[in-house]
Order: sequence, then C-alpha cells, then structure tokens
Amino acid sequence: EERAAFIAGLPKAELHLHIEGSLEPELMFELAQRNRVAIPFGSVEEVRAAYAFSNLQDFLDIYYQGMGVLHREQDFYDLTAAYCARAHADAVRHVEIFFDPQGHTARGIAFETVITGITRALDDAAASYGMTSKLILCFLRHLSEADAEATLDAALPWLDRIDGVGLDSSEVGHPPAKFERVFARARTLGFKIVAHAGEEGPPEYVHQALDLLKVDRIDHGNRSLEDPALVARLAADGMTLTVCPLSNLKLCVVGDLADHPLKTMLDAGLKATVNSDDPSYFGGYVNANYQAVADALDLSKAELVTLARNSFTGSFLDDAAKARHL
Ligand code: HPA
Ligand code: ZN
Repeated sequence: EERAAFIAGLPKAELHLHIEGSLEPELMFELAQRNRVAIPFGSVEEVRAAYAFSNLQDFLDIYYQGMGVLHREQDFYDLTAAYCARAHADAVRHVEIFFDPQGHTARGIAFETVITGITRALDDAAASYGMTSKLILCFLRHLSEADAEATLDAALPWLDRIDGVGLDSSEVGHPPAKFERVFARARTLGFKIVAHAGEEGPPEYVHQALDLLKVDRIDHGNRSLEDPALVARLAADGMTLTVCPLSNLKLCVVGDLADHPLKTMLDAGLKATVNSDDPSYFGGYVNANYQAVADALDLSKAELVTLARNSFTGSFLDDAAKARHL
C-alpha cells in the first residue's frame, strides 16, 4: 500500500492511450441505447468476459466492434471526458491521446464529428483540471497507404488541433515501409511522428520506424531487446518508448508480468514510460499499470520517479512546459 500511495501521488503524463480503448462497458451500453445500435452482449459482465485475448488481432476485432456505438459529437465528448476524469484521479497532468479516425469514417461518421467531440472534452479538462493535452491521429496499418493519405487530407482543416500522427492496428505483415510516403507528407506538415513497432512485429519494424518514418517516439518497442545494436541506437538517441505493461500481459506479448522487459529497458539506458494503451479492455488505467509492473519487477521508488520523469521529457510539450513538471 505504501507503493500504491507513492504511485498515486506521482504526477505523470500518459503518452500511449487510444481514446476508443477507454470506452467502458457501462458507457458502451448507454451509447448503444442512445444511438439504437445493437451490441452482441446482454450485460456489462458479459462484455468483460469477452475481453480474453490471445493476441493483438483478437483484441482489435472486439475493439473495432466496440467503437461502433460512437455516432454523435456528444458520444466522442462523453468518451473523452470520462477518460480525462479517470486520468485526473491518477495524477495525470498531461495526456497525449491517439484517435483512430478510419474506425469511424469507414462507418459513415464524419471526421468533424469525431474531432470536435474529442477536442471539446480536452478543452474542458484543461479548464477543470489544468490538464494539458496533445492529440495524435493514428493511421490503421491494415488499410492501404492511399486510405491513410485520404485521412491525412481530411485532417488538414484541423491542423491547429492535431499535434502528431501515428500508426496502429495489426502490426505483423504491415511494416512501417508501407506508409513511408504518407509519413513524409505528415512531417512536411509539421506533425510529430510516432508508430507502434515491436509489439508483435520484429526488430526490423522498429528500424523501419526510425529510418523510414523518422519517428519521435516508438510505441511499445518491446521486441527491440532482441537486437543489441538497436538497443544501443535507441539509448544513444534518447528515444522514448511508450510501454504498456497490462496491455502486453492481456495480448500475450509477455506470458507473465514477472517476465516483462521494463526493468531490462531501464537498465539498458532506454527512456521507457508506463501507459495504459486501452484501459477499458486491458483492465487498468495508468496507476494500475505502474502498480502491476512495479510489484512484478520490484521496482524502486527511484525507478518509478524515472518512469514518471520520462513521461514528461518524452512528451511533445515545449521545453518551458516540460520544465514546469520536472
Ligand atoms: N496495438 C496496435 N493497435 C492498437 C492497439 C495496440 O496496442 N490499441 C489500439 N489499437
Ligand atoms: Zn497502442
């Protein structure tokens, strides 16, 4: 409990959070009723029971189904407001939120509906909690590069509200190289760049994210540890990794949290951070992720402080704002 109190009081940033992955079953039911969308579950308990995954694709299938209840601007507002309130309770002072516009536009929901709902809630969280935020548009990598280009086009009216672009969804078979040109255009538009890499995919995908997409951060990055030269490069570059312990456990990226690579990453000089990824689906918000991995690896207070500091230094806040948190 001493560790729990220490974690609870530690100011932190969350850098790897899919807003659609924060949809709690209770809100899913409420929105299904509000929008008269059928969902294949009879109760909140049935929903939670369905959240048993053996790999990333198992999860993604149910994640895309879940977001189908989001229709109106108010739905995206309610989703984002609920996450911000929950993060605030975990002493999260700054959030960098992913959203998956293609998961909505493919269902006939306008890009504008999605982004106005999310940003209105982020503005309210700034006013209510002093919580700062950045917004990161993710391309779904199982779709084509042309589809990503069209999504970037749809984002152009919102350049002042979108800070970065990322790459998520089914990793294996969809390497960063598939998206080299659209990320080059995103860079010329001034976006920060991130990509999920080395979650299920090989170290080569992390190399591609660095060399071809020219990422500012790596999301997950676990499998980098299989390649000592890559570890040395990530350490020398001070590259931030947004690690998600409970996600890794639920998606069987690790068999047991005692085998989680977080401590190895820190010991290798890698700038690792702790994040919740899709907290509704993986069973814990950011403090639960700190707690579970700290218990499993017996992390020290100094290591917990390093992780929280890394979350600010690895953020896309400007230097003056970072300094206020350090
Ligand atoms: N990996 C890839 N795609 C995702 C994830 C993830 O952990 N969460 C939501 N989309
Ligand atoms: Zn993720």
